This record gives sequence, C-alpha cells and structure tokens, in this order.
Amino acid sequence: MLEVLRVDSAQPDAAALTRAGTLLRAGGLVAFPTETVYGLGAHAGDPAAVERIFTAKGRPADNPLIVHVADADGLASVAAAVPPLAARLAERFWPGPLTLVVDAAEHLPAVTRGGRSTVAVRVPAHPVALALLRRADVPVAAPSANRSGRPSPTRAEHVVADLGDVDGLLLDAGPCPVGVESTVVDARGQTPVVLREGAVTREHLGLTAASPLGSPPTGGLTAASPGTRYRHYAPSCRVEVADVGDGPRRAQALAQQGARVGLVAAAPGAQDVVTLAVVRDADDLGRRLYALLRAAESAGVDVVVVEAVPEAGIGRAVMDRVRRAAEA
Ligand code: TXA
Ligand code: MG
Repeated sequence: MLEVLRVDSAQPDAAALTRAGTLLRAGGLVAFPTETVYGLGAHAGDPAAVERIFTAKGRPADNPLIVHVADADGLASVAAAVPPLAARLAERFWPGPLTLVVDAAEHLPAVTRGGRSTVAVRVPAHPVALALLRRADVPVAAPSANRSGRPSPTRAEHVVADLGDVDGLLLDAGPCPVGVESTVVDARGQTPVVLREGAVTREHLGLTAASPLGSPPTGGLTAASPGTRYRHYAPSCRVEVADVGDGPRRAQALAQQGARVGLVAAAPGAQDVVTLAVVRDADDLGRRLYALLRAAESAGVDVVVVEAVPEAGIGRAVMDRVRRAAEA
C-alpha cells in the first residue's frame, strides 16, 4: 500500500523527507510532487528499484525514464559528457520544466534508459522534489505517477487512485503549480531539438514556432522520444476537441443527440451539458486539464468536450496533451 505523508509544499517536514530519502536509497518507491506533475521515483542506479516503477505503472520496457537530479552536477554524474548546449540550457532553465537528453554514463543501468545510449535528465523546480533529491543524494528516475496511458497526476489523490496498491511512500504537497509535463529536448547538437512539447516553450528556447518537432538521428519522431508514441492522458470517457470558442455549441449538439456531455471551455455550456470548468487561458487549462479529465470520468459523462486554446506559448503543449487524450 502507498503510505501518504502530507508535507508543506514550501517547507516540507524534515522527518518525512528523511524517511522518503532513506527509502529511495534502499531501493523503494517514492511518489513526489514536482512543479509539473507528480512523479513515481526510484534510485536510478538500482536496476531492481527501477524495474518496480515499470511494474507499478504497467509501462512498456522500451519507454525510458527521466532522471531527476538536484543540480547541474547531478547531470554530470549520469551523463557520459555534458555537451556545451546542455550546460547552457541547464544554466538558464534549471531548476525548471526542461528535460535534457544527453549521452548516458556507462554505469547507468539499461533499464533506466529504456535500453538506449542516451539519458533524459532534469532538475525539478519544486521545494519538496529538490529537498527529497538532496536528502536521497542519488539520481532519481521518475516518470509521471499514473498508470500507463492514464492522465498524469497533478494532485496526490490522482496518484492514490492509480497506484494506491503500490508499496511505497507518497509525499502529498497539494496540487502541482504547472500541470503540464516538462519539455524534452535533445541537447546533444548545436541547437535544442524538441522531442516533447512542454512547459518550457519554443519561445523560451529561442526556437521559431515552425521548427520541426524532433528530427532525430534515426527513424522519425517516434524513435526520438519513445513515450510520445503510446496512447496517453486518456480518461475512460471519450474526449472531443472543439475549435477555439466553439465548445458550448459543440457540447450542446452532442447533448441533443442524447449523449451525457461534459464541457471544459472559456464559457459555460447550456443546461443539459455538465460544465466541468470555465477556463481562462492556456495556462489555466494546462494547470487543470488532467484533473478535469479525471473529473469527467467521475461525473459519468459519455464524452467530454475540451475547447481548444490558441497554440502559442504553453498552449502548444496543452493542445498536444488535449489531442492525445482525444485519440481513441
Ligand atoms: O514533467 C515531467 O517531465 C514529469 C515529472 C515527473 O518530472 N515526468 C514525466 O515523465 O513526464 P514521463 O516518463 O511520463 O515522460 C518522459 C518522457 C517520455 O516521453 C519518454 O519517452 C521521454 O521522456 N524520454 C525519456 N528518456 C528519453 C531519452 N533517453 N530519449 C528520448 N526521450 C526520452
Ligand atoms: Mg507520463
């Protein structure tokens, strides 16, 4: 069973951190908050511990994990070498929601890297995550703490709903402030290549909106960031994307055909539609999207209509997740 320890999000209790850090060092699982989503962590250098993550999530073995470290020295400890671009991006964006793919140090277990020669690394910008990483004093492999294919967890309750049976600890520090996962970039070349859109935007990275997503050395986008090829973020009800401003109309049309319809849009729906949330903008939708997809399930709707937000800034990552949730 997952044991839940409540901690303050700004000043986490030292005793809880010590328990969690000790458990990580000993090969156990600890779910913890980051600024993006909750992660399910294990000692990245301990293959048996990392195996437990794959089993708990039902995650395909060829989908590598992000290794979380406390600072840029942590990157050097799991990388074969730190390329100049990675050093610059780390300096600029860490702690923060940017994950850097670099060549992996040989000692890093294959299971952590999903069998690849590279490793994805980030320093999370959350006081609880940082304090835990310092306490554990080992690199911590942590995918999002959901069952594989489900919406990522942005609150501790979501972790309990998906992984409540798992042996380990959960540090509950309330909702995650960003709500959309980190941007994954290949940092081995001259310029960052975005493999997964995320909270650090192309604008932040100095890339144009038109720069292609992941032109990897081998085999197309899917080979670049393996996780992007699996069904993702999907609740048990259907998800439909409406155009900007068209959510209420689309929801109403579906309701008139007899469906029970949930709506997430900038304006509320008509009376026979379950308005799950009125969202202000892309940031707001990003923060709440995964929780709303889970709320749609609980509300028992057949379909949830999510109105699009403009695809600029974080809106690009948010719409990537919305679309993927909507893929049947
Ligand atoms: O914000 C986040 O990134 C959260 C928090 C917990 O840090 N983590 C997260 O992990 O979203 P996960 O496992 O759900 O997604 C990791 C993504 C996957 O798409 C995976 O394929 C990709 O990163 N990835 C991991 N290692 C990689 C590598 N060596 N090369 C390319 N992509 C990699
Ligand atoms: Mg995930």
